[in-house]
Amino acid sequence: MAHSGKYFIETYGCQMNEHDSEKMCELLERLGLQVDASPEQADVVVINTCAIREKAEHKVYSSLGTLRNMKRDKPEMIVVVAGCVAQQQKAKLLTKFHHLDLVLGAHHISELPELIEHIGKTRERISRVEFCNDVSSLHMLAPARGSSPVCSYVTVMQGCSNFCAYCVVPFTRGKEQSRDSLEIIEEVSELAGRGIKEITLLGQNVNAYGKDLENGRRFSQLLEKLSLVQGIERIRFTTSHPKDFDSSLAEAIAGLEKVCEHVHLPLQSGSDKVLEAMGRGYKFSDYLDKIQLLRIRAPECAITADMIVGFPGESDDDFEATVKALHRVRFDQIFSFKFSPRPGTLAEHMTDQVPEEIKKARLAKVHEIQDEITQTYHRQLEGSVVEALIEGHGRLQGQFFGRTRTNKIVNFSDDGHHAVGDIVKVTILRGLKHSLLGEIV
Ligand code: 5AD
Ligand code: SF4
Repeated sequence: MAHSGKYFIETYGCQMNEHDSEKMCELLERLGLQVDASPEQADVVVINTCAIREKAEHKVYSSLGTLRNMKRDKPEMIVVVAGCVAQQQKAKLLTKFHHLDLVLGAHHISELPELIEHIGKTRERISRVEFCNDVSSLHMLAPARGSSPVCSYVTVMQGCSNFCAYCVVPFTRGKEQSRDSLEIIEEVSELAGRGIKEITLLGQNVNAYGKDLENGRRFSQLLEKLSLVQGIERIRFTTSHPKDFDSSLAEAIAGLEKVCEHVHLPLQSGSDKVLEAMGRGYKFSDYLDKIQLLRIRAPECAITADMIVGFPGESDDDFEATVKALHRVRFDQIFSFKFSPRPGTLAEHMTDQVPEEIKKARLAKVHEIQDEITQTYHRQLEGSVVEALIEGHGRLQGQFFGRTRTNKIVNFSDDGHHAVGDIVKVTILRGLKHSLLGEIV
């Protein structure tokens, strides 16, 4: 049944969530709904939630509070909570929030249209959160209409089986499940046909791709196959896990023209004691060995990471080891977080929780060190020529923005001869704190 109404989606969290939201947009549009810029007038409002840290979870409850008032004026509005908070809280959310109609877990996104139709007819309040051991619905959803005309995400695996002591993901997204490589290749070919130039392969641990498939291709083999897809110029991937990172990926980056020189390899801590308590499966020296391997084979490759400060039991010495690690590795960029105890994880009730004030001070120190390093890298690029894919128009009039192969944002003026989707050579004029400024050669 076609609708003529409006929908609004609010997205929190990671790239995986952004991509899930794109899929939900696609599904709602197939139902005949059109996107609206705000929730007030919408017939369907979806909050796609993140549970990775407490702060993200709280934002969801405040959004739900605002929607309660809106729904008073528009009682036919259908309110959906999707994503990790939905998965974690399950039907409890329906009890807590009487204006909520649907709780949609990560494995049920493909059912969104039929559930919306059902709720519209019956006003039944539904929770769909069971895990399924089947990734075929991912194919049904592809290709999703992405938010960029030239770049697209492609899910290669869902879930995670690592159970790091701090992390909710294995509980909210289920165990690691790889998609069939032929389906992925088909999806990427369709995207290329629609003008997509750059794909980012998504998975919590792409290095484990294929390990759960019978006779499945491994990740580096998948990269080889995807490199053959005509029209695709650049291939990125995220996230890599250090314990599964091996020379085959370094070889793929070095040997496959389309595979971009950037690896996101979360370290989390520089202290072996903390890494062990986190259950990461490697020591700092193992991590150094892996990036050494990468730097020998692909010296141009940028390395970024996630870091957590204030994990339970992290002493001053442990934190000092993290500081030393930042200086030793000199990441191109990092995402750093204060440890946030999450329900159901091993670390939630660990003794020796680190006081908030100490976490705050440690995070500030990490920011200060990394900002310096990132800016130094950016300044070192001044005067050099880099390759950028034009992704869109910049904030300033007459400006384009794009990313280098190493995933650095670069703004440059429109020379009147190029368009979004072109790959251009750009001379870097200035290295700023978070981006580069250049001009087309
Ligand atoms: N507290 C703080 N940071 C966390 N992350 C995951 N779980 C937590 C948590 N409980 C961070 C990790 C991970 C990134 C996606 O989020 O650094 O790599
Ligand atoms: Fe979470 Fe660890 Fe899995 Fe990453 S590898 S999603 S941090 S459990």
